Amino acid sequence: MKIFVTGGTGYIGSHTVVELQQSGFEVVIVDNLCNSNIQVLDGIEKITGIRPEFEQFDLTDAEATRDFFARHKDIRAVIHFAALKAVGESVEKPLEYYRNNLNSMMNVLASMREFGVKNLVFSSSCTVYGQADVLPVTEQTPRKQAESPYGNTKAMCEDIMRDLAKVEKEMNLIALRYFNPIGAHPSANIGELPNGVPNNLIPYLTQTVAGIREQLSVFGDDYNTPDGTPVRDYIDVVDLAKAHVIAIRRLIEGKNKANYEYFNIGTGKGVSVLELIHTFEKATGKKVNYKITGRRAGDIEKVWADTSLANQELGWKAQIPLVETLTNTWRWQEKLDRK
Ligand code: NAD
Ligand code: WQD
Repeated sequence: MKIFVTGGTGYIGSHTVVELQQSGFEVVIVDNLCNSNIQVLDGIEKITGIRPEFEQFDLTDAEATRDFFARHKDIRAVIHFAALKAVGESVEKPLEYYRNNLNSMMNVLASMREFGVKNLVFSSSCTVYGQADVLPVTEQTPRKQAESPYGNTKAMCEDIMRDLAKVEKEMNLIALRYFNPIGAHPSANIGELPNGVPNNLIPYLTQTVAGIREQLSVFGDDYNTPDGTPVRDYIDVVDLAKAHVIAIRRLIEGKNKANYEYFNIGTGKGVSVLELIHTFEKATGKKVNYKITGRRAGDIEKVWADTSLANQELGWKAQIPLVETLTNTWRWQEKLDRK
């Protein structure tokens, strides 16, 4: 059974391709490689023994997307990862973000409708909640106006799915709202490939320990949290990848309860920046050179997921302990350094 994975050479996509293949699915990837590289296919093949089918083109190209679906009549479901994802950059380049993330989504959906492909899983984000008033956030927590064009594209894509599902009764759509994905495959054959100076905490931290960056700045310790640093829900990328396989099965087997559904995908546990640093030190025996600096503009204080709905409906629960996730992350960084 063939699954079309957009953005499948990217960070979360590549881990999901591995889990799909290991669950017996066939995969075809489309990626324009704007934020990943072709060697990722080697990493996937090393783990699973199977090289996924791959085509390189830009999904904002409506004709190319249509042509792709016309040539792949055996696709049973789509997982749409392809998007630009740098929050800060999206503030600087709003048109590029709206164009890329919305046009690719609409091209994929239009071709799915035209060629009778019914099932879609979409990468949404906890960014749609902003700073919620009540924690943990459930799927009923109201969405807040996003602070960035990136965040807006996620909310808009969810709205497109909701509206389409109302009229296309045959189509079945699931949005997974990821919290903070971190980690790497335990084999260290695939992981995150940050481009330039990382914005996210984990790649910045591991690059600091590797000596690529001098010092990690901890952005603020005066928040209303137990140790004053912001709290997030860090979800292992392999656990996250598995949630996609389960969501795909739910759609293919017709077990979904509505034709548009959305689920929080996190651990359900809040972890502060300092806790994360200290857990990394314990897991790896490496010291993290950090200093407390001022707050980063736009950061929220705390967010973590209530994952009851995913636990009950999908039968999915995060399994991998944080110590293991951080060990895998470090193993991946060490491998990158040897390249
Ligand atoms: P990533 O950048 O590693 O992967 C995205 C892939 O999509 C890249 O390989 C890129 O080359 C490709 N791509 C982008 N635009 C494309 C286009 N127009 N046509 C074809 N390919 C295109 O990012 P990721 O971390 O794996 O994120 C995957 C998805 O999950 C994204 O939609 C992202 O917004 C979402 N998400 C990520 C996080 C996170 O923290 N990593 C959190 C929540 C949601
Ligand atoms: C985590 C914590 C920082 C870097 C982003 C997007 C969100 C979602 C996930 C896609 C924060 C602190 C960070 C550093 C630090 N992505 N930090 N020093 O901001 O929670 O979420 O990724 O949908 O939309 O906004 O993730 O990893 O950048 O930060 O102290 O050098 O680490 O202040 O508290 P964030 P992050």
